[in-house]
Amino acid sequence: MTRTLTASKLAPSKLMLAAAIGALLAVSACKGPQTAPDGSAGASDAAVDASAIVKQRKANFKDIGKSNKVAKAALESTPPDFATASAAAASIKDDAGKILGLFPEGTGPDAAPKTEALPAVWQKPGEFKAAADKLASAADELKTAADAKDLVATTKAMGDIGGACKGCHEQFRKKDK
Ligand code: HEC
Repeated sequence: MTRTLTASKLAPSKLMLAAAIGALLAVSACKGPQTAPDGSAGASDAAVDASAIVKQRKANFKDIGKSNKVAKAALESTPPDFATASAAAASIKDDAGKILGLFPEGTGPDAAPKTEALPAVWQKPGEFKAAADKLASAADELKTAADAKDLVATTKAMGDIGGACKGCHEQFRKKDK
């Protein structure tokens, strides 16, 4: 980062300049979420952003997990609640469409220690996208089956959704500790 400046790296004659730049950086950093104590705005901003994005994507997966449970319970109730399952499927489809955008470059384990995402996400973007697409199409399948009130087809779709979660986690998420 070219914006990163520390006084210790500069000759004493440049300290005044450094102080001025530091003040400027501090002012501009005020617009951002946070700044590091030494005023090195560049790297710390990136770190803050990465962990914020990790929080967002975890929330998105939690939401996906919730909808999956809602759909399962709705289909297991007597009589099956197809309308609720259909709505849950639509929500999963919606959230599945957000997955890729929540994994920008620079939000891997190097930048965000709290992520459970493996470097493979960024090393094999095509396969990661395919895994996200698989979830989206399984959610579509569930919605179609639920709208048709076809219990056999919803059961198959739920299996496909579960397979999509598992398939992606095996390749792209850290194993449970
Ligand atoms: C395209 C890949 C992919 C698919 C599909 C996928 N996941 Fe994940 N999931 C991940 C990754 C990667 C993480 C780790 C995210 C992180 O820690 O930054 C994760 C994390 C999670 C978490 C933990 C969230 C947290 O709070 O830490 C849950 C719960 C979860 N997934 C549930 C599901 C369920 C349920 C499905 C299927 C309905 C699913 N996921 C489908 C890749 C995927």
